[in-house]
Amino acid sequence: MTKAKIIIIPGSTRQGSVTTQLGKAIAKSLEDNGAEANVISLADFDMPIYDGDLEQETGVPENAVKLAKLIDEHQGVVLVNPEYNSSLTPLLKNTLDWLSRDVGTKPYQNRAFALAACSPGMLGGVRVLSHARDILVSIGADTITPQIAVGGAGSAFNDDLSLKNERAASLLQSLSTTLIERAKTHL
Ligand SMILES: Cc1cc2nc3c(=O)[nH]c(=O)nc-3n(C[C@H](O)[C@H](O)[C@H](O)COP(=O)(O)O)c2cc1C
Repeated sequence: MTKAKIIIIPGSTRQGSVTTQLGKAIAKSLEDNGAEANVISLADFDMPIYDGDLEQETGVPENAVKLAKLIDEHQGVVLVNPEYNSSLTPLLKNTLDWLSRDVGTKPYQNRAFALAACSPGMLGGVRVLSHARDILVSIGADTITPQIAVGGAGSAFNDDLSLKNERAASLLQSLSTTLIERAKTHL
């Protein structure tokens, strides 16, 4: 049977990023539930800050087209958010903005989206989730309801990348199975 392909996009490129660690944990959970999962780094898709004049003069950045093409090979997308002042990182917001321009394909259509957040703080970045969801809804992306915010990130993971907290582990399982099911409708 064909596996659903899910791309995982952490909103931080920092060495030792807790967001990337959650991205890897999500990938493992998706794979355990029968999907193919690919964690990318936005460091490989460097883009200038969106500017209308720049877009008019030189078009969208090559890396926006490259990332859109890669997303197009997947039926599911997980945006894994750090939380900066209760909202998205400029890195992820800028990437989402460029992807909403004329990148040759339609990265927000014909696939399922899920949201996750991670923070060393106790709230786990839960406030960024509603900001990110608003963006996806306004873009018209098919976004699943289950989401996860992992707090106390420094000590939240076991060595095998499973989550120590039972409720968080159960939320991750729900996110994974719902996303795979929805992604399969886009195969
Ligand atoms: C500008 C800035 C704003 C931040 N705001 C928040 C916040 O609102 N909530 C929170 O939980 N952590 C906040 N943090 C702390 C981040 O959660 C922490 O730096 C985290 O490690 C970033 O994710 P990363 O490890 O994946 O890079 C902020 C950090 C920075 C640099």
